[in-house]
Amino acid sequence: MAETPDLGKPIDEAAIAAWDISILPDGTGLPKGSGTPAQGALVYAEKCVTCHGDNGKGGLAGALVSDRELAGISAAQKTIRNFWPYSTTIFDFIRRAMPFQMPRSLTDDEVYALTAYILAENKLIGGNDLMNAQTLPMVKMPNRDNFIIRFPDRI
Ligand code: HEC
Repeated sequence: MAETPDLGKPIDEAAIAAWDISILPDGTGLPKGSGTPAQGALVYAEKCVTCHGDNGKGGLAGALVSDRELAGISAAQKTIRNFWPYSTTIFDFIRRAMPFQMPRSLTDDEVYALTAYILAENKLIGGNDLMNAQTLPMVKMPNRDNFIIRFPDRI
């Protein structure tokens, strides 16, 4: 039993941290840093507009800014504003997955700024509101209370 294949090597904390990037709905895991909608607009123009269109209205890739009401369950109906239950998911998604062709290339400040820009364009925060680890989790998304717990007895 003592014999092992002797594969792999111990991983240090810093190496784990680089992969440990999940943000929980309540903001647990949000990094230091901050950004405003105005700062986000600049990054957006440089790194996002070619796919997501002017002002996030959609283009090659879907809209990030929309006033469409949720009128059904098809994916085509769902937008960040009308569907996503937590503002913190916007940060998590952008940081891990965008820009599409170069994920993980944004700084945390850029991700906060882009999150602030998308929230402000969707009229969910004010045009000058600073987003950081304290303020972002406090932004309540419109659809937050409409999710039904499928197995409430298991909570
Ligand atoms: C090369 C094209 C491209 C670029 C550039 C790009 N995106 Fe995307 N984006 C996509 C595609 C494609 C999807 C859908 C991905 C999926 O569903 O897996 C997406 C999805 C998203 C979503 C989720 C939208 C939703 O409603 O599900 C967000 C938020 C987002 N992108 C933000 C950004 C931001 C911010 C930038 C700039 C840093 C950016 N994207 C740059 C192509 C792009």
